[in-house]
Amino acid sequence: MTKAPKGIDIPSEWEDVIPKIESKGGTVLLLGAPDTGKSTFVRFLIDRWTRQGITVGIVDGDVGQSMLGPPTTVGLGMCREPSEPELISMRFVGSTSPYGHMLATVIAIKKLVDKAIKLGAEITLVNTTGLVHGDLARRLKSQKIELINPEHILALQRNNEIEHLLAPYQKEGRIVLHRLPVSRTVRTKSVQERRAFREKLFRKYFENAESRGVYIEEIATQATQLGSGKRLASSDLNFLSKVLKTHVLYGERSSEGILVITNGNHFEEEVFRIKRHYDVTEVSILNVDGYRNLLVGLNDSDSNTLALGIIEDLDLKYGKLSILTPLSSSAEVKAVRFGSLKLTPSGKEIGKVTHHD
Ligand SMILES: Nc1ncnc2c1ncn2[C@@H]1O[C@H](COP(=O)(O)OP(=O)(O)OP(=O)(O)O)[C@@H](O)[C@H]1O
Ligand SMILES: [Mg+2]
Repeated sequence: MTKAPKGIDIPSEWEDVIPKIESKGGTVLLLGAPDTGKSTFVRFLIDRWTRQGITVGIVDGDVGQSMLGPPTTVGLGMCREPSEPELISMRFVGSTSPYGHMLATVIAIKKLVDKAIKLGAEITLVNTTGLVHGDLARRLKSQKIELINPEHILALQRNNEIEHLLAPYQKEGRIVLHRLPVSRTVRTKSVQERRAFREKLFRKYFENAESRGVYIEEIATQATQLGSGKRLASSDLNFLSKVLKTHVLYGERSSEGILVITNGNHFEEEVFRIKRHYDVTEVSILNVDGYRNLLVGLNDSDSNTLALGIIEDLDLKYGKLSILTPLSSSAEVKAVRFGSLKLTPSGKEIGKVTHHD
């Protein structure tokens, strides 16, 4: 038998589960509340299996306390050596929690599990967030399971705190469930520690970032209304400025209605005049400040995230977004996916904008 990674306490049940998974291989989903040792267990399994010559794919679906890639992304690593996994692909989901981004999270996990299998993973480990209570957790986990169709579920629990998530699969009997104890040596993290961990990852990520310009008319925009319509002329902006009694910087008309971006407080009372003028039912009025510091994903044509970026500024006269990013060339960028988290280049989370799936 090979040695365990240094300093890790290995309950005997952890050892026992290894041959049971090895014999079947396939996709393995890890479930557990926060601070139950999920990431540590993943590292232990990677170490053990790569020493035996097994190729292990790791899909890090924890968008907060990430093991692979910056927070807000689902990351993929392919492990052939017993060392810390390295990121080979990632998908930005929008925030450090799946709230409001459940579909993006589930899709990202599915896409990366498929990619791991395609790249030759004999066992694919899927790590998850510690979100296990409440309706969102129930829906998130069940949809994930339905999509990725794992052969095994590894459930780390102190008592029976995630039995409610396991119950349907216990009854169905297709997926092999492995219930595992939490090591007594687990160290719990406070909310502040979790935030500081994310801040450190973000700071390192944006350390050598530079500003790059992206033109709204040349690139696809996702998870935002901006860029989905036809730009309004300056005569329209003058009309809108008068009606809203503020400085309107930009406007678009789409089949959804009118999008207006201002740089001041607007006057709501006469929005009906805009609806009447353009014969639309929807008018969205946003302040340009809402976009500043917003975290975005710079994606290729398949929604793989090439890099994250922070919107520094919008030059709406030219439809240009200035984005701070470590990406050296924006040539491959085909889409900008808007998130809901606001971030400073030093990694501080300074707010969230509302976002719904
Ligand atoms: N088996 C173990 N032996 C020694 N230390 C452990 C063990 N399991 C967990 N720890 C320690 O406890 C802490 C939390 O563990 P870990 O990060 O693996 O938990 P997690 O469930 O992934 O947490 P999160 O909810 O943040 O994702 C870490 O500092 C880790 O080093
Ligand atoms: Mg973890």
